[in-house]
Amino acid sequence: MHFQWYPGHMTKAKRMMQEDMKLIDVVIELVDARVPLSSKNPDIDQLANNKYRVILLNKYDLADSAQTEKWKEYFEKQGYFVTMVNSKNGNGIRRVNDIVVTACKEKIERDRKRGILNRPLRAMVVGIPNVGKSTFINSIAGKAATKTGNKPGVTKGKQWIKLNKTIELLDTPGILWPKFEDQSVGLRLAFIGSIKEEILNIYELSIELIAFLSTHYKGCLNGRYGIEEQETAEGNLSAIAEKRACRLKGGELDLNKAAGFVTDDFRNGRLGNITLEFPPEVEETLTKAASE
Ligand code: G4P
Repeated sequence: MHFQWYPGHMTKAKRMMQEDMKLIDVVIELVDARVPLSSKNPDIDQLANNKYRVILLNKYDLADSAQTEKWKEYFEKQGYFVTMVNSKNGNGIRRVNDIVVTACKEKIERDRKRGILNRPLRAMVVGIPNVGKSTFINSIAGKAATKTGNKPGVTKGKQWIKLNKTIELLDTPGILWPKFEDQSVGLRLAFIGSIKEEILNIYELSIELIAFLSTHYKGCLNGRYGIEEQETAEGNLSAIAEKRACRLKGGELDLNKAAGFVTDDFRNGRLGNITLEFPPEVEETLTKAASE
């Protein structure tokens, strides 16, 4: 499968983000907890060069919690301030304010030494499409007291959400573009539904997904569909089609329909809590175990 992203969108998104970066102290980067690396665009490191950095592992309700913990440690080791959130139901949202303040401790201290008190920390949310940026902003803003805009000292046209006494959040997120240099990244983004359906071959996609699940989350297909797990991914898909009575007019198995069920069930968490990529240390252990 081949994945593409359109350069026109990319240039515009980048330009807008460069402008917004000038206004803020801290970048709140949302990644999808099921694919924390594939949903992260490293270009942000350059764009957010001198900013404090927070990573939110969003949609952690859908991911494997043991792996999410490991990813948290992984990013913390790299100097990020990290927490998990479920923007959809608000779990973990309360922790975000504290994390932002902790990330900006140095600046708060510096301001205090200079006698500057109560200067707000300004933050913006960034992330690739579909990672949950709008949902997150709505969730955190829902708890915030006021929205401010066009007041003195605030750039015209920009809306800031006052989260509390110390933090103001830009109300429009920065859209990062997915990085597709590596086809396996494209594949993982397709699994989570971040790539338009029209350009995907749903059959091939589900075969790749089933192969991954049978290796790393044994039993989850059986749990959902009550099938005897087969040797091959193709065999499993046929078994699922059979169980779900997916048939074409002539009575033949409708594998595309079954493929749709599997990908949809995965995306909505109905196959369980699943992480699609593992932190490098875990990956190493798995590779070693597989070669033994
Ligand atoms: P974006 O601005 O980054 O493009 O993403 P957006 O907020 O539109 O969210 C994309 C989808 O992800 C939405 O689902 C949203 O509900 C879902 N989502 C966001 N955060 C979470 C989370 O923490 N957990 C879960 N499970 N889902 C989350 P949708 O299918 O597009 O809409 P809907 O089903 O909510 O109506």
